[in-house]
Amino acid sequence: MRQAGRYMPQYRKLRKRHSILDLCHSPELAAEVTLQPIERLGVDAAIIFADILLPFEPLRLGLRFEAGEGPKIDRPIRDAADVERLPTFSIEAELGYVCDAIRLARRALPAEVPLIGFAGAPFTLASYAIEGGASRTFTKTKAFMYQAPDTWHLLLSRLADLMGNYLVAQARAGAQALQLFDSWVGCLSPDDYRTFVAPHTKRALALAAGAGVPLIHFGIGTATFLEDFAAAGGDVISIDWRIPIDAAWTRIGGQRAIQGNLDPVALLAPAAERDRQVKDILKRAAGRPGGGHIFNLGHGVLPETDVDAVRAVVDLVHDS
Ligand code: CP3
Repeated sequence: MRQAGRYMPQYRKLRKRHSILDLCHSPELAAEVTLQPIERLGVDAAIIFADILLPFEPLRLGLRFEAGEGPKIDRPIRDAADVERLPTFSIEAELGYVCDAIRLARRALPAEVPLIGFAGAPFTLASYAIEGGASRTFTKTKAFMYQAPDTWHLLLSRLADLMGNYLVAQARAGAQALQLFDSWVGCLSPDDYRTFVAPHTKRALALAAGAGVPLIHFGIGTATFLEDFAAAGGDVISIDWRIPIDAAWTRIGGQRAIQGNLDPVALLAPAAERDRQVKDILKRAAGRPGGGHIFNLGHGVLPETDVDAVRAVVDLVHDS
């Protein structure tokens, strides 16, 4: 989860010379960053270096990344006219550079290391498009959802179709698994998730399923509506650290695979505490019939993390 990023000295070195968008736009550089964690960490899979917000460029929302502030959207969506004005575009023409990076990374990766492609889920993308950047309360997003439900559903269905097709394009380029990131969906009530979001996530995942590769459905803070979140789709359900992994299996059924669920902050804990948490997850995941387990963090590696601590967790999981 964000295994390539600012916590890695090699990545910071490249970032001194290139902006994050430059890294994403260059298939050669994006492939290079994708490979950085494989050798350094010994992880089992690579995730293509890109960002969930890249489709905002062809959608002409005006995407920027401000140092220390995260993403900024210059022309946020505020009303029905803004949604109707969203252009249609060719994924191949406008986001083909991501597929080119996938082709290059696939060729450079060892055969036994699968490459994961990804996209943002309709809700999380809509939240950035409406707020104009990161948010703590998602006030504008939820107000839009309640005040203009028809326009909301139109926006999310446009994003669902777009992301479903974008994921299929990534699989055609060589991605061997696909991950849909719904990072901020945990801000919703269970009822609102079911009414305003789940049908669109379901649509995006159903389209992506046409690619015939495993789908990972990622969310944070979903424990209050985990059954509905899992029902929206995905061969693998990703959970954060707010629910024990065995309790999550009981809720969604033992045949479903789960990804998770170490707290990224555990990587800042003393080694003994960190390792205790890793072993606890492995113990709770052991000996179950059916669906598998992708050991992962519940969210991205934090910039202040020591690379050796990440490596130690990878080694501990492999040796257990
Ligand atoms: O190894 C990898 O996972 C790298 C590829 C990757 C990036 N973004 C690169 C990136 C992935 C999978 C993402 C997904 C992404 N982007 C999500 C979903 C997953 C999650 O973390 O919740 C979201 C919500 C975004 C939007 C985004 N992009 C934010 C909020 C930020 C700012 C984060 C910060 O801490 O400043 C970004 C920028 C970004 N995208 C970075 C990276 C490595 C930060 C590093 C940099 O500025 O160079």
